[in-house]
Amino acid sequence: MKKQEYIDIGLSAWLSPSQIEAVLCGVMNISKEEFFKLSEISSKFIYEVQQVFFKLQSGASEEYTLEKANFYGRDFFVDERVLIPRNDTEILVKVTLDKLHREINIKNMWYLDVGTGSACIPVSIVEEMHPLKFNKAIALELSSEAIDVAAENIEKLAPGKIELRESNLLSAVFHDEELAWKDLCITANLPYIKDGDYVNMDSKVVRNEPNRALYGWAKTGFELYEELIKQCFQMKQVHKLWEMHLFIEIWFDQKKHSKKYLEELWLSFVYFMDSAKIERVIYIKDF
Ligand SMILES: C[S@@+](CC[C@H](N)C(=O)[O-])C[C@H]1O[C@@H](n2cnc3c(N)ncnc32)[C@H](O)[C@@H]1O
Repeated sequence: MKKQEYIDIGLSAWLSPSQIEAVLCGVMNISKEEFFKLSEISSKFIYEVQQVFFKLQSGASEEYTLEKANFYGRDFFVDERVLIPRNDTEILVKVTLDKLHREINIKNMWYLDVGTGSACIPVSIVEEMHPLKFNKAIALELSSEAIDVAAENIEKLAPGKIELRESNLLSAVFHDEELAWKDLCITANLPYIKDGDYVNMDSKVVRNEPNRALYGWAKTGFELYEELIKQCFQMKQVHKLWEMHLFIEIWFDQKKHSKKYLEELWLSFVYFMDSAKIERVIYIKDF
């Protein structure tokens, strides 16, 4: 069959050219460059392609349907058990890497990612740090279902480099005696959508993605971060930690509340903006 015939089927299902391209590349397991060079596509793919086109036409997400999401240059396996990694979260990774490369000494450092989901953050950080290495890297996640997905991505993209622990925030490392006298770097993209914002969310997101990955179910949406920050203070005391660096992603309306909260704790912190000039990442230090 001509490639254009496949494309026309996609267009008649009201899919965009980029969706059609992603589907055809995904089903044939080829790169965009290989796809570009094709003029014919074997008709053996037609049934599967039509099925995927149909799912997308009915509102399923492209990433879950193709079980693949690109994040910081790598393809991660995703399904309905985890949040689809967002482009916005690449800012958190970029800021963290920048500080780690330029300002932070990682020689005696443990690295933790809290609420790891697909493990897109720790895999990107650990791989981009190469050849620099943390003393230990651990991905923490509350949901055992998400842990299975994270394990698959770590095995495929950063084998042997990241430990995975089921954990409510920092609970699974809190009493780890090996942590004594270490430095600590933590990244976290936790659920931060507050109750009232549920109604304003994209219906596709609400319908498809796991609720526990998105919602704080509370007044400001910053509550889980407040709990995490409390645990950081406690860990610093218990384990006599030297330095602690925390990088978190926030929602676009959380600057005012987070600033007041962090100032009241006398913490040092800096905000980083996304491309729309909205503060989406906070770097907190000097606990
Ligand atoms: C917004 S998603 C982010 C996932 C991933 N870090 C990313 O950026 O794509 C939040 C993740 O935190 C997990 N989570 C929610 N509450 C948690 C808690 N108390 N402790 C640890 N993980 C939690 C959810 O299961 C979900 O995987």
